[in-house]
Amino acid sequence: MTKIGIVVGSLRKESFSRKFAKNVAELFPEGYETKFIEIGNLALYSEEYDANPPAEYTTFRNTVKEMDAILFVTPEYNRSVPGVLKNAIDVGSRPYGASVWDGKPAAIISQSISNLSGFGANHHLRQVLTFLNMPVVQQPEVYLANSPELLDSNGKITNADTLKFLQSFVDIFVELIKKYQ
Ligand code: FNR
Repeated sequence: MTKIGIVVGSLRKESFSRKFAKNVAELFPEGYETKFIEIGNLALYSEEYDANPPAEYTTFRNTVKEMDAILFVTPEYNRSVPGVLKNAIDVGSRPYGASVWDGKPAAIISQSISNLSGFGANHHLRQVLTFLNMPVVQQPEVYLANSPELLDSNGKITNADTLKFLQSFVDIFVELIKKYQ
C-alpha cells in the first residue's frame, strides 16, 4: 500500500482547504491510502528542541517518515504560506541532516475565497520544497479560486470540470510517486 500524507495549511474547522483535501483524497486509485497529518499541536519551532524534542514533534516526524509522498493543500495568508504550515515544515526539517521530507514526492494545491487562488502561497511553498529536496508535481499547477462556489453544503466538489482536472492532477502525482519507489 502506498501512503499519501495530507498536510492542510489551515486549522479552521470549516476550512475550505481541508474540504478540498477530503475530495482529492478520494481520487487516488486502489493501492493508495491517504492520511491527514495534523499540525496544529506542534509548538513553535526552536533549535533548542533539537536535542530534546517535545513528544508531538517526534510523533509528527515519525508519521511523515512513514509516508511515501505528501500532498499539501493550503490557503494563502498575506501572499504567502500560513505560519502554521511553515512551522510544521520547519519541525520536520530538523535536526540538521535528519529531515523527514527529504526525497519524498510532493504535490501542492492552493485555494482562496477570492479569485487570486493562493498563487503566492503556492509558489513560496514550491521554493521551500525545492530546498527540502522534494520532487514536486510541476504541471498541472492547481490554483482553486472562489472556493465557496466550488463546494456544496456537504463539502463536496460538484463541478465536473474541476473534478476532472483534479483527477488528472492526482494521476500525474501518482506517476511521479512511482518514479521514486
Ligand atoms: C487571508 N486570505 C487571503 N486570501 C488570498 O487570496 N490571499 C491572501 O493573501 C490572503 N491573506 C489572508 C490572511 C489571513 C491572516 C487570513 C485569515 C486570510 C483569505 C483566505 O483565502 C481565506 O480566509 C481562506 O478561506 C482560508 O482558508 P481555509 O481556512 O478556508 O482553508
